[in-house]
Amino acid sequence: MTNPAPLLDVSGLTVSYGAVEAVRGIDLKVTKGEIVTLLGANGAGKSSTLNALVGLAPRRARQLSFAGEDIAHLTPELIVRRGMTLVPEGRRIFPTLTVAEHLLLGGAKHAARGPLAETQAEMLALFPILKERLHQKAGSLSGGEQQMLAVARALMSSPDLLLLDEPSLGLAPQVVDRIFALISDLRARGLTILLVEQNVALALDIADRGYVLVNGRIEIAGSARDLMASAAIRDAYLGA
Ligand SMILES: Nc1ncnc2c1ncn2[C@@H]1O[C@H](COP(=O)(O)OP(=O)(O)OP(=O)(O)O)[C@@H](O)[C@H]1O
Ligand SMILES: [Mg+2]
Repeated sequence: MTNPAPLLDVSGLTVSYGAVEAVRGIDLKVTKGEIVTLLGANGAGKSSTLNALVGLAPRRARQLSFAGEDIAHLTPELIVRRGMTLVPEGRRIFPTLTVAEHLLLGGAKHAARGPLAETQAEMLALFPILKERLHQKAGSLSGGEQQMLAVARALMSSPDLLLLDEPSLGLAPQVVDRIFALISDLRARGLTILLVEQNVALALDIADRGYVLVNGRIEIAGSARDLMASAAIRDAYLGA
């Protein structure tokens, strides 16, 4: 087959909070091996979209399929087990739990699909800093280390598709570079990634394709190269 079915295939996705319609019938596809970025201003509906995909926000859709399966009625836990995991906005680290406890949570809650000890050893090889800090409380980690921990916790579920919500938020430029290097590395290891980022230039630099959300609707979709060259994007996001 030359044209494989998308790993994630969404059409008509709507997210409503009571009377507030945050996402208004969007179509979104992610193919295995891609990095796809979802861009947009504050309040555009980016987090609502990611949260809805993993069942953490109220959603309706014409089609919501992952790896060929309809996931519209699955719970967040079952969606994680199918292989789609979210690294939430703001990291959601528990300050009083240790690094090791976070990794266990990522594996246990998400019912790791491989042997837990093996997956943890892989994570510690990928994130040497977490190995050094294994028994420290997560609250004592720097912002960048906490973001690494949030990613490592998500990877403990051995996902096929990783959803990243603003991984660079609040981090110093060198730390942001490290996070983006990590994202490239994860893709090279076979992970497929849907990335929400405020840093549009960095996101388009790393992504294959992108979507721009405006008030809950997709206004522009295309290859990262085309988006980077688009006058509308340059004016609105790239300051060039
Ligand atoms: N739990 C909620 N209840 C009610 N309204 C919400 C809720 N979460 C988000 N919203 C509203 O939905 C809209 C989209 O919010 P969302 O957080 O998805 O945007 P975003 O693109 O992720 O923004 P940001 O860049 O600030 O993270 C906003 O108007 C927001 O106020
Ligand atoms: Mg958000």
